[in-house]
Amino acid sequence: MTGTESQQRLIAAILARFRAEFGAELPAVFFAPGRVNLIGAHLDYNGGDVLPVTVDLGVDVAIRLRDDDRLRLRSLDQTAAVDTRLGELGDTRTTAQGWAAYPLGVVRMLSERLDGRGFDAVFGGDLPMASGMSSSAALEVATAYALDQLCGLALPNRELALVCHAAETRFVGVQCGIMDQFASALGRAGHALWLHCADASFEHVEIHAGFELLVMDTKKPRTLASVAFNERVRECGEALEVLRAHARVLPNLASYGEADLARAAPWLAGVHLKRARHVVSEMQRVARGVAALRVGEIAALGAALSSSHRSTAVDYEVSCAELDTITAAACAQPGVFGARLTGAGFGGCAIALIEPGAAERVVPPVRDGFLRRFGVEPGFRVLAAGGGPRRVA
Ligand code: GLA
Repeated sequence: MTGTESQQRLIAAILARFRAEFGAELPAVFFAPGRVNLIGAHLDYNGGDVLPVTVDLGVDVAIRLRDDDRLRLRSLDQTAAVDTRLGELGDTRTTAQGWAAYPLGVVRMLSERLDGRGFDAVFGGDLPMASGMSSSAALEVATAYALDQLCGLALPNRELALVCHAAETRFVGVQCGIMDQFASALGRAGHALWLHCADASFEHVEIHAGFELLVMDTKKPRTLASVAFNERVRECGEALEVLRAHARVLPNLASYGEADLARAAPWLAGVHLKRARHVVSEMQRVARGVAALRVGEIAALGAALSSSHRSTAVDYEVSCAELDTITAAACAQPGVFGARLTGAGFGGCAIALIEPGAAERVVPPVRDGFLRRFGVEPGFRVLAAGGGPRRVA
């Protein structure tokens, strides 16, 4: 089955569910993509640079506006059905909202522009959930884009990304940076997004032929990931305070250099030193990675990825045995330029840069070794750099 065929099947399944739940009148269907991050781990909320690639998997939503303020949300993959009203949405999520907190957060952020109209919606997708490929950002961006189109808001995609980021940080309560929402809202086929998170400016960088992106899903659930994530955000904030007091005053952690770390050395210790060292060195790796991508030096890009993984594991401490094993096993295969965890870490997916067509050779030994060690069969998929949100039916 080709990508387009499986997309069509998914849309048909979403429409069938919509009819069963909400009646025959046809809804519109919108799509928003997920992403992998080539390099720039945990830099977005530190004001650094990141290099995500929007993928050709994502979230679809069939949606129809209502004349009253009811909100009825269903999902093909989640059993909980959520019914509420615009006027009932508070400033933060409730436990009962479950998965629907992401779209409802977007609704909350846009609520003043919706003229009191609610909607009926069925969500579905082909992105592995909670695995480091931004299924939550895709849920948010699909909702924001759909409401923008249906209500004629005419917000630029950059604004939609900011709305979705506000939904996640203020309503859902994860202190993430802007990368995922920007990657989903601003993706361009065949390009990576070089995003400067300090001022949310960006540039699309063309991906020349010469490598493929192999996504490797460890299937390890990211239990408590949001707690550990917010803990990293806090630790980085504390490291920034130390650097401001003992090196010099700069706007964010990603602006510091090695000389600053050396100057603040007597005061910067333990986790604070490790987190700062990762952020400072990762900024250099992103610069190297972008330069290498521009000129098609894939070996140099791959080396930057692998060294990013080591820093994320050793200094940032967001890797795990499964992610370390799968990336090391991939890198040991001929035809692999480099590999790293993608997304927040703690489990979920890793990516490998491979020679075009090498997946057939690379996957079997990596899969077999992983299965022997962990008793779980990982998922593999070669992904293309796809476009941003769009109407699909
Ligand atoms: C998660 C967050 C992003 C980013 C990455 C780590 O995906 O949502 O904002 O911080 O982790 O790079």
